[in-house]
Amino acid sequence: MEKIAVLTSGGDSPGMNACIRAVVRTALYYNMDVYGIERGYEGLINGDITRLNHRSVSDIIHKGGTFLKTSRCPEFKDLEVQKRGTYALSAYGIEGLVVIGGDGTFRGAKSLSDNFGIKVMGIPGTIDNDLAYTDYTLGFDTTVNTVLWAINNLRDTMHSHDRVSLLEVMGRNAGDIALYAGIAGGAEYILVPEVPYDLDEIASSIKKSNLRGKTSNTIVLAEGAGDREEIVQKIKEKTGINVKVTVLGYIQRGGSPNMADRVLAAKFAIKAVDLLKNGGESSAIGIKDNKIVAVPFEKAFNEKKVFDKDLFESARILGL
Ligand code: F6P
Repeated sequence: MEKIAVLTSGGDSPGMNACIRAVVRTALYYNMDVYGIERGYEGLINGDITRLNHRSVSDIIHKGGTFLKTSRCPEFKDLEVQKRGTYALSAYGIEGLVVIGGDGTFRGAKSLSDNFGIKVMGIPGTIDNDLAYTDYTLGFDTTVNTVLWAINNLRDTMHSHDRVSLLEVMGRNAGDIALYAGIAGGAEYILVPEVPYDLDEIASSIKKSNLRGKTSNTIVLAEGAGDREEIVQKIKEKTGINVKVTVLGYIQRGGSPNMADRVLAAKFAIKAVDLLKNGGESSAIGIKDNKIVAVPFEKAFNEKKVFDKDLFESARILGL
């Protein structure tokens, strides 16, 4: 394979720039021509394609976000729209694609491969860590550390004022960001979509701990696990305690990728370009038990995410 392109798609995540850099540098190392596609699948169908060189990816390894920009492109579900994307690729003689994004990105990739014979390698780039076939997605580690920074700061002021803090974090329908940051931050309550909870129980537990002299608590709420105002209301009704709410929002998506994500970015990228160079089948690249893996998209989609219930339980033991 002589010519490949790389794009980023869906919600951005820290490490995407490091990953693009590694894709470009690996492709050039193998004397391949490499192109950047702007704004994900939107740029593919619009032909926003530029040839890249070593210098194109200088000084970006430490930058959050993606210099190729990204987009959500729901119209790409349509086969006719996808076909327009293949015209753009053939106009440049591009034979293979590396797409960095989440499950929506992978569905587009699989369709390009199945319906148009384009070789596509998918790199899991999303802060949510919600793809079952891989232990970690690119950006997750950095985002959890950003949330941990927020928890640490909140603990200081909530402790000073004997207050209860509720921090809402991202994750869409997954609870891994809340779980890992909550454990690391010593949160007393971690509310995730994967585990049902009883607000009455939580309220009375806070009341009891208050009476035992524990004057501040931290609740970490994954955005898919419930309505923050309802939770605050219930606790106020049951305990008379005023919970202070912080919604961390898009701060979680930016920031310089940490070591873990920069190294993961390099490992994913090298695997993806190696496979394209050596005629590998279209695959989702991931990490399983610390080994870099390439699995068929079908398999990647069908694997059910197993939530780490044991880790979750430890929060209950350690937090109270
Ligand atoms: O998928 C990543 C993510 O940050 C989710 O955690 C969040 O719910 C969603 O994207 C927000 O989407 P958007 O950036 O389109 O508002």
